Amino acid sequence: MDARLIVGNVAEVETECLVIIAVDEGDKQKSAPRLLNRDATLEKAAAEVLATGEITSKTFEAVMVHRPQGLKARRLLIINGGKAKKFKSGDLRRAAGTAVRFLKPKMIKSCVLVPPEMEGGVEEAIRCMVEGAFVADFDPDTYRSERRDLRMTEIAVLIPGDAQQAAAQRALDQASILGQSQNFARELVNEPGNRMTPTILAERAREMCEKVGLKCEIMGPQQIKALKMGAFWSVAQGSDEEPRLIVVRYEPAGAPEKPVLGLVGKGITFDTGGISIKPADGMEKMKYDMAGGAAMLGAMRAIALLKPKVRVIAVVCASENMPSGKAQKPGDIQIAMSGKAIEIINTDAEGRLVLADGLHYARTLGCTHLLDAATLTGACVVALGMVNAGIFANNEEIYERFSQALQRSGEKFWRLPLDPEYFDQIRSAIADIMNTGGRAGGAINAAMFLQEFVDETPWIHMDIAGMAWMDENKSWIAKGPSGVAVRSLVEFVRSYDKNSS
Ligand code: BES
Ligand code: MN
Ligand code: ZN
Repeated sequence: MDARLIVGNVAEVETECLVIIAVDEGDKQKSAPRLLNRDATLEKAAAEVLATGEITSKTFEAVMVHRPQGLKARRLLIINGGKAKKFKSGDLRRAAGTAVRFLKPKMIKSCVLVPPEMEGGVEEAIRCMVEGAFVADFDPDTYRSERRDLRMTEIAVLIPGDAQQAAAQRALDQASILGQSQNFARELVNEPGNRMTPTILAERAREMCEKVGLKCEIMGPQQIKALKMGAFWSVAQGSDEEPRLIVVRYEPAGAPEKPVLGLVGKGITFDTGGISIKPADGMEKMKYDMAGGAAMLGAMRAIALLKPKVRVIAVVCASENMPSGKAQKPGDIQIAMSGKAIEIINTDAEGRLVLADGLHYARTLGCTHLLDAATLTGACVVALGMVNAGIFANNEEIYERFSQALQRSGEKFWRLPLDPEYFDQIRSAIADIMNTGGRAGGAINAAMFLQEFVDETPWIHMDIAGMAWMDENKSWIAKGPSGVAVRSLVEFVRSYDKNSS
């Protein structure tokens, strides 16, 4: 899908479909829709539909008007953005996404989006609409033999002649990069375990890096062992597939020496649980256990293209988690790269093991700030469901900065605590630390475990277990991989470059 900007007025633009948004100003008894654009031509073209009551109070419903009066567009699509008072930029992403997903199965291949008037201005509106459109363009059915390619060919955003054209173009270009990079991560996550082994993930990373001009280093079993990554290796040792340590560097000329941002991703290409094997029911979903790693690669792709003046290093620990005669066993002791001794209680708590070494390694590479993303715990899904991802931080400044990034990305994360008392749950009688701490506060125990490997480095941990995979279709996004965390990570990184907006 291409995205482009057109300058002109709504009456004159020729398109398959013009997309506008309505909001509801009514109350519980009766809905009273109005357009977000105070434009007489549009209001006239939409008046009849608005009056029919076809647009109810149902958020993100879509109503199509054919041959709209007074417009050159062949169709006018009105998206209900929900209650006027509650309408925010995140809803704009979903509204634009709804339009794309409504038009796609009708084989309508292009449309023109009209940015609404709202606080934040036209650039913010463009950004949200374009990101939302790209997210909606993605479909996961890549292996369906009679797949119809439903992707849109082009979306355009219409701005009036008196708007700041250069700034609008920049917003559109940057949003396209973000949307495409999020979809790149989703493509990786969508692949099943037999087609996305650690080796293949590393190849895909290398390919991407070559395309966008990033340095990429890939290490195998020998180097992982040579680096003394005993925690990472303990997960990989049970598998016939070799693990890969993927290191991607973005070191732009003119960037200050510090900070060096380290993005560490869990890249378990399939999680059977190992010897502490998972039940069969739903195990197929564990192909998405590399979503944290994929998010880091997606973010690096966007960063390479957006070129903020800040150093970033991504570390992805890619491995399978398999049972076998070579697999680690509960009770085993593993020495992490940092030197900490870990008692393995449950081989299914493998994510924290690979991340322990990934985080420590990132520090040895000179990272001054660490961010990790992982489909780490079922407990996080229990706690926050599929609305918020979990976030942990050991430092208020980095948390504050990340919160700002969330404002821009529109992604929802909810902070969970790291009180030192929780450490009691993972204290081992035989070693320094155990890899599980019981069911109580499962997401927190996992984060406490990771914290042992970041030391004092400012650190953000994202548990995206509930958010990396959509269990059902939504009007704005398909069931399947979501690409969560990509946009927030990129916004966080960009916040270090004062000139990037
Ligand atoms: N990859 C899983 C976490 C997960 C579970 C993600 C469900 C998405 C949905 C992780 O490796 C895992 O198995 N965690 C265990 C930890 C437990 C053994 C302490 C879990 O959450 O059950
Ligand atoms: Mn597991
Ligand atoms: Zn896992």
